[in-house]
Amino acid sequence: MCGIVGYVGSREATPVLMNGLKRLEYRGYDSAGIAILHEGKIKMVKTKGRLAALEGKLNSVDLKGHMGIGHTRWATHGEPSDANSHPHVSSGGKIAVVHNGILENYIKLKDFLISRGYNFQSETDTEVVANLIDYNYRDDLVKAVIETLNEMEGAYALGVICTDCPDEFVAARKDSPLIVGLGKDENYIASDIPAILEYTKNVIILEDREVVRISAGRAEIFNLLGERVYREVFHVDWDVASAEKGGYEHFMMKEICEEPAVVKAAISPRIRDGQILFENFSLTDEMVRSCEKINIVACGTAYHAGVVGKYAIERLVRISVEADLASEFRYRDPMVDKKQITIIISQSGETLDTLMALREARKKGSHVVSIVNVVGSSIARESDDVLYTFAGPEIAVASTKAYNAQLTVLYLLALKFGQIRGTVNDEDIRYYLDQLMGLPGNMEEILRDKKEIQRFAAGHYNAGSIFFIGRNIDYALSMEGSLKLKEISYIHSEAYAGGELKHGTIALVENGTLVICPMTQDLLFEKMVSNIREVKARGAVVLAITSRKHAPEAEKAADAVIAIPDIDPLIAPVTAVIPLQLFAYYMSVMKGNDVDKPRNIAKSVTVE
Ligand code: M6R
Repeated sequence: MCGIVGYVGSREATPVLMNGLKRLEYRGYDSAGIAILHEGKIKMVKTKGRLAALEGKLNSVDLKGHMGIGHTRWATHGEPSDANSHPHVSSGGKIAVVHNGILENYIKLKDFLISRGYNFQSETDTEVVANLIDYNYRDDLVKAVIETLNEMEGAYALGVICTDCPDEFVAARKDSPLIVGLGKDENYIASDIPAILEYTKNVIILEDREVVRISAGRAEIFNLLGERVYREVFHVDWDVASAEKGGYEHFMMKEICEEPAVVKAAISPRIRDGQILFENFSLTDEMVRSCEKINIVACGTAYHAGVVGKYAIERLVRISVEADLASEFRYRDPMVDKKQITIIISQSGETLDTLMALREARKKGSHVVSIVNVVGSSIARESDDVLYTFAGPEIAVASTKAYNAQLTVLYLLALKFGQIRGTVNDEDIRYYLDQLMGLPGNMEEILRDKKEIQRFAAGHYNAGSIFFIGRNIDYALSMEGSLKLKEISYIHSEAYAGGELKHGTIALVENGTLVICPMTQDLLFEKMVSNIREVKARGAVVLAITSRKHAPEAEKAADAVIAIPDIDPLIAPVTAVIPLQLFAYYMSVMKGNDVDKPRNIAKSVTVE
């Protein structure tokens, strides 16, 4: 949500900032802008709409200079408009600011600044930040920013330029991501690594409440007391190609096609001599043995992976598992204590609700193991233990490969916990590892048959409403199929547990209603066949997704069947989700939607 880029060095800043903003488009935005400091003046171009609109405006403006800041805005305070777009400049034109996050006490601060003669051009909280820095400024920008941050309540990542400082700018963060990229005689800031990957792979990940002064030759970090602090430089091993489409029409399709490799990458480094190893784990066997309950907390797709994880852990470890939405968990004073382990799942590692849930669990004494994709992200850094998913950058807003990677790590965790607690024996470990290692091959097979799903989508992309019905793990999978469909096709959709259908929802089924039924659970296959018969009796059109061995039976009940390779039902979501992701993808393409950047949603949700 919102993207920030900053640059200082010998290159022209505008193209560097525009490249960076393009790499951050995936985060979601509705307006964009850049400000360049040149010959003592701040020049700014900003606009409502996409980066193409900003590029259009830039064609008619001479925006030369070697230092600047850029921003993509996802509206919170004030509608998407030219005036509300960032950067925002202080009343006298001395300070320009880009901001990600929400300033909670901005009304009080705004009233104060108005009483001191400042005027405001926008409805944003960010303009308050620009004016407050100006108010606090004497002759030291770092000092003025620190003073301002000490008066601000809320979350922020900031980039600040000042007409008195021609060769350096200042950045800061709290609860919103910000990295510093270190080049040779040039330096950068960005909300995320892909923005600067083509220029440098050496980054510093700022901690909360840190301020950095950046010139072409150095990056000096300070805490909010103004003291120097020193941070480790990370070398990022993602290559530039991983953040590019590589011949695919959309990032989403590229990322779906990467899933077999992603699953392999999540398993391989963790298996040695037939045993599961989690390196540098501080969670001891004794803590696993004495654990009384496991909480899994996440949002969106990561939450859906967590619900599958609940089924898997309960089945393999025989311990009670609660899967909860982070936004609910954090506000319900959850019954968590030090006898419980909390698993936090997040692709970005920056989702604010998930981060706050993590803090709540740790505050109550629970050991937190996080399953995260982005290395060095806030959630990764604040967890007791991290299991990275190694999925590479996920650019499409709709999460796909991260889900498979999260599931894979959850299965490994369930097996490991089961082994420690004695609910899983060596033979089970061998069996499941064999099944898991067979997944990439099975996934490749499903991907080879994409056309079948494309054809089915072609016949249904005008549907007004689509239901997903599943039982047990397939219910968890249905939730993910339904979310994927609604977020990129904008078709109303709901997921229901098969057994719940006749308790109300079946009233909505009428002639032509499309119902999609994942049915990968052997023990519940017949029950699902009954559900199909119930909805078909009311006129529904049914697509079943099932294993090859059940396909002939499913064909007798459903209108269409997608058959996937036979694997153990416990791990079936890793393969069965692919047809659901492809279905959502093709529906979106056929409707002419912006597949990778669907309306209203952001990749990284850093506000509540
Ligand atoms: O980065 P996270 O995994 O914490 O993000 C959680 C959700 O915001 C995310 O999964 C969202 O639901 C996706 N758009 C789903 O495709």
